[in-house]
Amino acid sequence: MTLTDLQALERDYVMGTYARMPVEFVRGEGTRLWDAAGEEYLDFLTGISVVQIGHAHPHWVEAVQDQAARLAHVSNLFYTEPAMRLAQRLSEASLGGKVFFANSGAEANECAIKLARRHRAQGEIVVVESGFHGRTYGALSATPQESKQAPFAPLVPGFRVVPRGDLFDSVGDRTAAILIEPIQGESGIHPLSEETLAAARAACDRTGALLIFDEVQCGMGRTGTMWAYEQYGVRPDVMTLAKGLGGGLPIGACITSPDYADVLQPGDHGSTFAGGPIACAAANAVLDVLLEDGFLDEVRSRGDRLLRGLDELSGGRARGRGLMCAYSTEDAPGLVRRALAEERLVLNATGPDTVRLLPPLTVSDDEIDEALDRLARLAA
Ligand SMILES: Cc1ncc(COP(=O)(O)O)c(C=O)c1O
Repeated sequence: MTLTDLQALERDYVMGTYARMPVEFVRGEGTRLWDAAGEEYLDFLTGISVVQIGHAHPHWVEAVQDQAARLAHVSNLFYTEPAMRLAQRLSEASLGGKVFFANSGAEANECAIKLARRHRAQGEIVVVESGFHGRTYGALSATPQESKQAPFAPLVPGFRVVPRGDLFDSVGDRTAAILIEPIQGESGIHPLSEETLAAARAACDRTGALLIFDEVQCGMGRTGTMWAYEQYGVRPDVMTLAKGLGGGLPIGACITSPDYADVLQPGDHGSTFAGGPIACAAANAVLDVLLEDGFLDEVRSRGDRLLRGLDELSGGRARGRGLMCAYSTEDAPGLVRRALAEERLVLNATGPDTVRLLPPLTVSDDEIDEALDRLARLAA
């Protein structure tokens, strides 16, 4: 089938919710992708921070193939080792409580939202401007963006949007939780300030509300530490993950601290596919790589190299943490289209003036330099 055939099928049979680029990818390895014509691309987007350890990482492939050949699915009415082991590893590497598995970032946030309401019945959930938490109704209601919310009103009640600077004063005895991304991803890679996160922590300590960090995009080593919150010295009570957790297979997780481990009770929540053995085997393989000695140090140094290069390229208009980077430029969507077509470089635009880069955490220095060279040629 040609690309034109695929586009015709999309036009006739696929709901038009995505603006796809005119490329059919057929294979990936490490930081490289190949299209149907055999052209090679550098992937500095990795899904959107999904293929965390690169395409077709041998350890990941072996874990997935092995699990698929043995057992693909049983209901959550039974036990499987990949899920129990993954829950233990995620808990021990983060907040120390318990884990609920989901299938996506939005679903991980749905769990966190339900947990917050169970914690404080009828309680309000405070979110900050420009946040993004997903497209399901609960997650969408927590995503204060007019264009995404307005067509789907009425939304789930009980969410309140506050400016980032107002987090301390906006939280009271009727607040169930504050839900925030420590580094806002979809709005263009904007790290919240240390004062903002410290104020959120203090407000929750004062009122008993839960502090929930959405690390769906910034977690799993993306910023050079396993969790973004480690760089702030502020621990949440609950954290949500997805994207890079499965390294390419769909899995999300909602993780608590010990104090809130038993808020959700039998029957409160569930999902047919969540925590399935193949997705959990994939996530365990991703963790194996991320937890190797020195791996995250490398992410930090590669992140510094990329950010330095972007800063030079953009005249000081780059920002980011680790390998979660962006820079400001005119007509970002146009630049992203040209990068793909003319330089075989995969990026994305988070808005009219922001280009986002999320390469695999296994990217090499040479690949970073190559991507920067390609961007420089476009700017010339
Ligand atoms: C911070 C954050 N939370 C939640 C989501 C939603 O994740 P998903 O698309 O897997 O539902 C995203 C997706 O971009 C995200 O960046």
